[in-house]
Amino acid sequence: MTTTLIAGGTVVSAIGRQLLDVLVEDERVVALLEPGSQRLGDLRSTADVVIDATGTYVIPGGVDAHTHMQMPFGGTTASDTFETGTRAAAFGGTTTIVDFAIQTPGERLQDTFALWQDKAAGVCAIDYGFHQIVGDVNDESLAAMGELMAEGVTSFKLFMAYPGVYYSDDGKILRAMRRAAGLGAMMMMHAENGIAIDEIVKEHLARGETDPIYHGISRPWQLEEEATHRAIMLAEVTGAPLYVVHVSAKQALEQIAWARGNGANVFAETCPQYLYLSLEEQLGAPGFEGAKWVASTPLRSRAEGHQDALWRFIRTGDVSGIATDHCPFCMKDQKEMGLGDFSKIPNGIGGVEHRMDLMYQGVVDGRITMERWVELCCTTPARMFGMYPRKGAITPGGDADIVIYDPAGHTSIGINATHHMNLDHSAYEGFEVDGAVRTVLSRGKVVVDHGHYLGRPGDGRYVARGLAQTLV
Ligand code: URP
Ligand code: ZN
Ligand code: ZN
Ligand code: ZN
Repeated sequence: MTTTLIAGGTVVSAIGRQLLDVLVEDERVVALLEPGSQRLGDLRSTADVVIDATGTYVIPGGVDAHTHMQMPFGGTTASDTFETGTRAAAFGGTTTIVDFAIQTPGERLQDTFALWQDKAAGVCAIDYGFHQIVGDVNDESLAAMGELMAEGVTSFKLFMAYPGVYYSDDGKILRAMRRAAGLGAMMMMHAENGIAIDEIVKEHLARGETDPIYHGISRPWQLEEEATHRAIMLAEVTGAPLYVVHVSAKQALEQIAWARGNGANVFAETCPQYLYLSLEEQLGAPGFEGAKWVASTPLRSRAEGHQDALWRFIRTGDVSGIATDHCPFCMKDQKEMGLGDFSKIPNGIGGVEHRMDLMYQGVVDGRITMERWVELCCTTPARMFGMYPRKGAITPGGDADIVIYDPAGHTSIGINATHHMNLDHSAYEGFEVDGAVRTVLSRGKVVVDHGHYLGRPGDGRYVARGLAQTLV
């Protein structure tokens, strides 16, 4: 047995902070010890490893509940593999991801889950689970949802966007939601009216409006609000809990806040890109530059106030969790597929490495408390997707997934600052933020220390998840 003592730091949880030493035996946390206790005095000399955390915050490892490593999209594949993407996540203080297995029409649901398990097996730097995308709602798929539940897949994503690819019509959504309600599973929704969007896309292309900014203009907030409302109503009719992914429009969040006000099990996820970036500044960059930020839902207009509204809903609690929707495509050969036609730009932004730092900036800027930072990035994602308290908390019996975060540190973000994602650009190039990840433990093993990677591919294991712990 190896004992590790993380000594002298301030342990921050979702509900408070306190000077405590953390005792780890092998892969688990076994005790939190107050300064001055007798046992602690002994341990500081007898533990196998003592990590001095004086002056730092000791927080649970980050849980990113929305990533797409090596995701096939529009004739190409997201540029981070499970190996490179999870290593980058570790550098950024994230110790668990939940990725998406993807079913497209004609495939058996169980086969696609097995395929994604194979992609991740033996190569991940940190622990990982899967949601399942149901791209072909039919009797067989609905039956298979029960089988996947037994394998630790307790959440299923549907798309109201991307007709002809992943799209489900309202009838299919209703059927899948009834099944999810019966199973106690979480329904996840990509809420944009894809049928209307596709018509607007055709209108722009017919007028020769082909630049990346038209990706955003063709997906107006009204069509996110409308789809979000429809998803909420279908969830209410069926009794399924609903988690709306990557919410970017203020009005969509108003719908979610309204539903929550009525007592519904409806939850919102947003992502750092929707808090910090905008349609005007990034998607509207000159020439083809904006392609870097083509993702769905799109970056929204700052003039319309979406970013500030999202921060407000984070404070009210109507945004439940922050994920990245990490789905990186390089400019060269990938985003470039859409030169002359924005609709052919693969959709996605990479950011798995930067979520903890970007959200800590919200603490520095006085937008959220330290505890809310931990809640949004670690604890609630773990509870939402059935991994708490093994993940998302520093608690006796839980996995020793721990980040030592240095508030006196500084992080420069970007390709020029040599990020670790397999991506030839950065959505956040040039961002300078206070605070830095110093040391990362994944199940008791130091995998990152002072910018050095000390882990190995295959350190990360599959996490079979339980039911959501956020439902009333
Ligand atoms: O543009 C995005 N978000 N790509 C990833 C797939 C999705 O819809 O989440
Ligand atoms: Zn989506
Ligand atoms: Zn996504
Ligand atoms: Zn060191």
